[in-house]
Order: sequence, then C-alpha cells, then structure tokens
Amino acid sequence: MIVYLNGTYLERDRAAVSVDDRGFLFGDGVYEVTRATGGRLFEPERHLRRLARGLEGLGIAVRDGLEPAALIEISRRLLRDNRCTDGDATIYLQVTRGAAERTHHFPPPGTRPTVFLAAHRLVVPDEIRAAGADAITTEDLRWGRCDLKTVQLLPNVLAKERAVRAGAFEALLVRDGVVTEGASANLFAVIGDVIRTHPADQRILPGITREIVLELCAEQGLPVSERPIALGELAEARELFLTATTIDVMPVVRVDARAVGNGRPGPIARRLHAAIRARLAGDAVRAGR
Ligand code: PDD
Repeated sequence: MIVYLNGTYLERDRAAVSVDDRGFLFGDGVYEVTRATGGRLFEPERHLRRLARGLEGLGIAVRDGLEPAALIEISRRLLRDNRCTDGDATIYLQVTRGAAERTHHFPPPGTRPTVFLAAHRLVVPDEIRAAGADAITTEDLRWGRCDLKTVQLLPNVLAKERAVRAGAFEALLVRDGVVTEGASANLFAVIGDVIRTHPADQRILPGITREIVLELCAEQGLPVSERPIALGELAEARELFLTATTIDVMPVVRVDARAVGNGRPGPIARRLHAAIRARLAGDAVRAGR
C-alpha cells in the first residue's frame, strides 16, 4: 500500500512519524474520513471545509500542500495507486501540529504540520444493515468542542469498546439526559411524524452524512427537527438510525437490548439509505465511471 506523508508517496510500512509529533504526544491534530465510490471522491469539498474549520479551531496554520485542490489530487492518486478505483473506499487524512520539543503551548512558528493520507478499501456493513444494528447507551465523556474532528478520541474509543463487549454495533452517548450522537456516527430518531437529530452545535460532530441526509429529507418532504433527543424519548422512537461516511444510513433496532419500534429496520431509514446510495452512484456516473 502506498501512503502520502509530508510531501512524499511511500510504502505504508516505510512511513514513520516522529516520536515528538504532537499528534502522538497530545492528540493535537484533526482528521477526516472521506468516501470514494468507483474511484470518485464523494463530496470532498464538504470534508475539506470541515477540515479547514478544524484547523482554524485548533490554530494550526494552513500552509503549502494543504490547499483543497492539492489534497483532492493526493486523494485521487492514492485511490489509483492502491487500486481503489472500483467499489467502495475511504481516504483517511490527518493533520497534526507537527513535531517539536514537548511544550503544552504551541511550538515555535515555522513548525511544519504533519500531513498524512491513506486510501483503504471499505466493506460497507450491508449485512448488519439488513437485520438492523444493536446499540448501547453510555455516558458522553467527551470535551466541550465535539464539533472539531480531532484525533483525541479516547472517550469514543472507550465507548465503542463497551459496545463491542456488549455485542453491539454502536454506543449512543448520553450527556445531561440527552443522546448526543454515536461514538463514530450521528443519530436520528423518528418520533411521532418527525425525524429528529441533535442540532449541529459544539456537542456533536457536524457529520457530512448527517448534512446530506438532512438535504435528502428536505428533497423528499420529510419533516425534520434539529432538536436534542432526550434519553427517555428513545423508548417512543418508531425508528432510530445512525449516519456516517463508512456506514451510510444504519438502522438501529435495539438499544440496551430493548426493541426500537417493531424491532426491524424501518421504512424511513431504508428510504434514506436508498437515496444516499443513489447519490453515491450518481456521482460515480457523472464522473464517467
Ligand atoms: N467518524 N460523529 C462522530 C463522533 C464521528 O466520529 C463520525 C464519523 C460522525 C459522522 O460523520 P461523517 O458523516 O462526516 O462521517 C459523527 C468517522 C467515520 C471515523 O471516525 O472513522
């Protein structure tokens, strides 16, 4: 596998980051996971806008090599060089504040950010989707800026591990009695006739898939309300579903071993999943693939 690191394309097992890297020492960096289908990047501009916001939020200076056009070009080359031009794939991108003597405050001006990109084949979890996923609820232990996609993911890691140990697909994070999102996905609930999801404030990651699903709901005339979902409301939900780059729309049919609705994937999740797959396929077709 060929990866990109700081201006160079090289074999993955030869790519090495300094032990002084602030990503390693402090989790001081941001990342993106972008979908590709048939070799075509899906909505890369949205991911790069979120990346730019994250870099700005962390005060990491944007410099040569981090321009959107350059990152898109690198991503396309990685898809080609790693034979990810058919089927589903992801591009992982990470930017840290770079390697410097360990100080809590920022390193000297001129410290070069570390830039890493890699392409991976993606196995879309369609079997889990067909039956619907299990989720657990667990405390949301994250910091106050969940809107920034930083690499400091320890609360997410611990929550996901709890889910896996419980035989579940995802952990739903609960803060102050509100279900904010999943450990690595946004959450939607169909309550009454309305599709609800947490507002895109500092308590959740503003997911690109979430944004697209909201647009699809508007196109299809489905009523949506961006309002926090109380933990107690989960029991009233007819449907729950997760959204993320790596899973599209994933119905959740059990939470803490209790059935959601009739315990089967619901019609709204299925309809939105079909719509997002159509967008993915449409993009690939428009690219002439
Ligand atoms: N995670 N919320 C959290 C906490 C996430 O980590 C993710 C994605 C999402 C969905 O965002 P998007 O639709 O832009 O993928 C929501 C990625 C896939 C990951 O960490 O691998």
